Amino acid sequence: MVKKILLLLISGIVLSGCSARKQTTHLDPIIEKKIDSLMELMTLEEKIGQLNQLSGMGELTGPSIATSDYAQLIRQGLLGSMLNVNGAKATRQLQEIAVNESRLKIPLLFGYDVIHGYKTIFPIPLGEAASFDLEAIEQAARIAATEATAAGQHWAFAPMVDIARDPRWGRVMEGAGEDPYYGSLVAKARVRGFQGKNLADKNTLAACAKHFVAYGAAMAGRDYNTVDISDRTLQEVYLPPFKAAVDEGVATFMVAFNELNGTPMSAHRGLNVDLLKNTWGFEGFMVSDWGSVGEMIPHGYCATPEEAALAGFKAGVDMDMESRLYVNHLKNLVEKGLVSEKEINDAVRRILRIKYRLGLFDDPFRYCDTAYEKEMLLNPRHLEFARISACKSMVLLKNQGILPLSREMRSLALIGPMADNQQDMLGTWQGQGEARHVVTLLNGIKEKLPNTRILYAKGCDFTGNDRSGFAEAINAARSADAIIVAAGESAMMSGEALCRTNLDLPGVQKDLIRELNKLGKPLVVVLFNGRPLTIEWLDQEVPAILEAWLPGTMGGSAVADILFGDYNPSGKLPMTFPRNVGQIPLFYYHKNTGRPTNDAVRYTSRYIDSPSTPLYPFGYGLSYTTFEISAPELSATSIGQNDSLVVSVKVKNTGTRKGSELVQMYVQDKFGSVTRPVRELKGFKRVELEPGQETVVKFTLRVSDLAFYTADMTFKAEPGDFVVYVGSDSNTQLQAGFSLKP
Ligand code: NOJ
Repeated sequence: MVKKILLLLISGIVLSGCSARKQTTHLDPIIEKKIDSLMELMTLEEKIGQLNQLSGMGELTGPSIATSDYAQLIRQGLLGSMLNVNGAKATRQLQEIAVNESRLKIPLLFGYDVIHGYKTIFPIPLGEAASFDLEAIEQAARIAATEATAAGQHWAFAPMVDIARDPRWGRVMEGAGEDPYYGSLVAKARVRGFQGKNLADKNTLAACAKHFVAYGAAMAGRDYNTVDISDRTLQEVYLPPFKAAVDEGVATFMVAFNELNGTPMSAHRGLNVDLLKNTWGFEGFMVSDWGSVGEMIPHGYCATPEEAALAGFKAGVDMDMESRLYVNHLKNLVEKGLVSEKEINDAVRRILRIKYRLGLFDDPFRYCDTAYEKEMLLNPRHLEFARISACKSMVLLKNQGILPLSREMRSLALIGPMADNQQDMLGTWQGQGEARHVVTLLNGIKEKLPNTRILYAKGCDFTGNDRSGFAEAINAARSADAIIVAAGESAMMSGEALCRTNLDLPGVQKDLIRELNKLGKPLVVVLFNGRPLTIEWLDQEVPAILEAWLPGTMGGSAVADILFGDYNPSGKLPMTFPRNVGQIPLFYYHKNTGRPTNDAVRYTSRYIDSPSTPLYPFGYGLSYTTFEISAPELSATSIGQNDSLVVSVKVKNTGTRKGSELVQMYVQDKFGSVTRPVRELKGFKRVELEPGQETVVKFTLRVSDLAFYTADMTFKAEPGDFVVYVGSDSNTQLQAGFSLKP
């Protein structure tokens, strides 16, 4: 045990000096005084009770280890927070016990996985990220918060800001994709959306940046797996979105399940305390992930539950979700002198601070109003925005002149397991979303084309070998003017503990599409999935592919808006689509190597059985119109340390429809004290143009945008040569060079 404590303290040293200076404090002196007075009244047991979080039994989001008499624990002051209790009525019942029957009347804090909506479900976060529309992402989180708070919730276990570069990992659906720069902006937008202007407002949720940290780097894309990455990769890729969330004032953090280079994150004092709390100045509290404190035993890090409680607590995990180890062991640990009451006080203070900030002490029932709940859930304005948000998320992957489809068609075949499917449109983490409220694609199309004969046949399921529906589907398609196939993954094929080794369309969907394609009719495949898929064959064989992700409650209407041209697709991929699983991990932000990839040259970094390039690169997405972007012009070819550079391009709509293009700017630092990626996203702007219209898009590049962790791990820009790339995806070759003077 003593050895472990020493180790915990030493681990604190590892990351010191690697990051930004301590933030200035935002503590509210009035709240802090109230906390002082309250804590004076609290017994040690009551303090430890605040650190205990249990799940309600209605809905379990992890392996439950025991049931509890919640009412009794609340009365005794031994439960500070609950998750998975839903609805204004249910939360009120428990809150009444807390504030009427417990000695100190401390309100409970209710947390829930509000991942992409509460009752009105938006596209999965990866889909929302494809909009590259930060305002829309913020607005979706705002609506989610409005609904969740109306239903008694105080705290969202979101945003998940893990950078994800391995599409086998099921949780890629929950994040913003592969890029740390964009991931940081999305993290901020989501925190702003959940938390609004003031946590004390009735419709704001405390947000939770999760999972700290590097959970997305799970080896081989298998959930919860070991993470072994360099300190540099940690700093450059995985930490920035968390830092961004802190800068945006995120109220809470959740620790990750994984170990990082040998230390379970639940025991990582260096990152959780020294970096997050002490260096970044995070003033909120950190919750464990479900049972993660107890999981340090199977990790092989702690031998006993008591050791695990000690390791988790010492490592800055303030609240224990579901492992019950704090409530069972912390008192003993204090008595043994291994944990001080001062340390307990710090954790309690952090939790009470958020309860005060949320206004729970002023009115613990402010979120428990059933009439308001009824008015807010599925409010028409929310549904309308869910439709817009879904439209913005969709990415046109291929279009050989087929889309948009004509509304004048007499008959249309709609085939596939997602065509008339409500449940799967919601994706995983569907909150309180209900299948019965979902607009299916069939209904979305029927509503749009009341005079067209829609021939629906499912054809096959997402999985399994059953081809018995093929004949009906082929018959339907035979008598139609065009065929739409709604294919992909079911909701439960992506998300937590839902990893895959084969990323092709599952089941017999491929065979069904091939049969339908033989009919030689205009055919569009609409993909519904929670991750990049390996669909090179599809790209080669069918004329049009629309990526619709798992689009949520209004998904069917949104897909219909796109298919029939009411919305010109504008989404861009936030994650690379590989050609095959063997290429994974494949992402745009890679290094050049000493033998840069050239598929035509033998001794280069490549494969002998596959191109090295992605199927669709990061940032890729088509429109129903076309754009021409000029080579970038720079305001200078050489800049000093205090200058900035203006990068301009002309963008012209060269097609026949109004449309919007996401103009992206990437930078390459050609030579560094350590090697740099071939390009890094440093800016993007959306322009909307009428046919023939042209505009100039300007980006300002500051020297701070060129900074990175140099060989000695100082964060600064190094003088030398740079290349700026601007274009419509990360593969753009439009470029200009400049240099940074010493
Ligand atoms: C485990 C997941 O990793 C986490 O993201 C989630 O918030 C908790 N379960 C609670 O459901």
